[in-house]
Amino acid sequence: MKKEYFTSTWLALREPYDFLSRNKNLKKLIRKSDCILDIGSGTGGFGRWCIENDIFFKTMMLLDHDQRLLNNSRIYTAKFCKSKKLVIERISKRKFKVEDPVHNLTYGFETINRDLGLTIDLINNFDVLSMSALIDLLSIKYLSNLFNIINGNKVIAMTLCFNGKVSWNHKNIHDKYIVNEFNKDQQSIKEGELALGYKSIEKVKQLSKKKNFKISIHDSSWKLLSNSHENKKFHMKYLETIYKPLKRNDQVDNEMLEKWFSSKIKLIDNNSLETTVGHNDIIIQT
Ligand SMILES: C[S@@+](CC[C@H](N)C(=O)[O-])C[C@H]1O[C@@H](n2cnc3c(N)ncnc32)[C@H](O)[C@@H]1O
Repeated sequence: MKKEYFTSTWLALREPYDFLSRNKNLKKLIRKSDCILDIGSGTGGFGRWCIENDIFFKTMMLLDHDQRLLNNSRIYTAKFCKSKKLVIERISKRKFKVEDPVHNLTYGFETINRDLGLTIDLINNFDVLSMSALIDLLSIKYLSNLFNIINGNKVIAMTLCFNGKVSWNHKNIHDKYIVNEFNKDQQSIKEGELALGYKSIEKVKQLSKKKNFKISIHDSSWKLLSNSHENKKFHMKYLETIYKPLKRNDQVDNEMLEKWFSSKIKLIDNNSLETTVGHNDIIIQT
């Protein structure tokens, strides 16, 4: 399976924007007694978002191939609990729990360090599968396999799926070219498998239809502003996620890329750039 590495710093920076963007319809479909498998969990941002939004669950297994991110899941969750009326308790190296005295609830967490290509045997042990900001990295083979193997009466929550659309309040003549090149770059072959990029959304729609699964798609786009130090910092970091891979790509016109990037940075500096990063939340009932 294609391996992609993300830093805890980047995941922490994006977490407040993710919190604002995910669609809350999921609340109706997750039950207090549910066990959730969070595939490509990173530091566990999805679990914290559920707790923040009173989406109750019994346990969440955080699965990632990057042990450093999993190690940070308890640390980040402890910080999160400190700002709420929640109590975190370490159970073992791989397990912790969060107590919510207001709702009289306990959320169990466990981490598992594994490549997502090796999750197929686990999938049917859970009521809910979650994949957050992940499906653009997946291949046709992985998605087809998942849809073939999953039993009925499960929920698949694919939140923050990048849909290939990035737009700005201030237009630049190179926007279209840059977004196109970025989408092509995202679909490149790494580790022998083609990541689908934004086309993963269409693939998931087709597979759901084929299997007669109920699917609903919601907007969960990021709205990035330039009106505070925090917003500017994240906005720049986000634009770098487009700029840096294109800078390494020798098919891309470097002069255009530099002009495009410096004009965006100027607009952030003068507090005026707004960027919409297209995301969708996909909820599937099998
Ligand atoms: C964009 S991050 C999203 C993290 C998290 N789901 C969230 O919403 O904050 C993608 C995650 O997928 C994980 N990942 C990428 N390729 C993987 C693979 N082949 N096996 C397991 N995890 C993988 C990365 O380590 C990273 O944590």
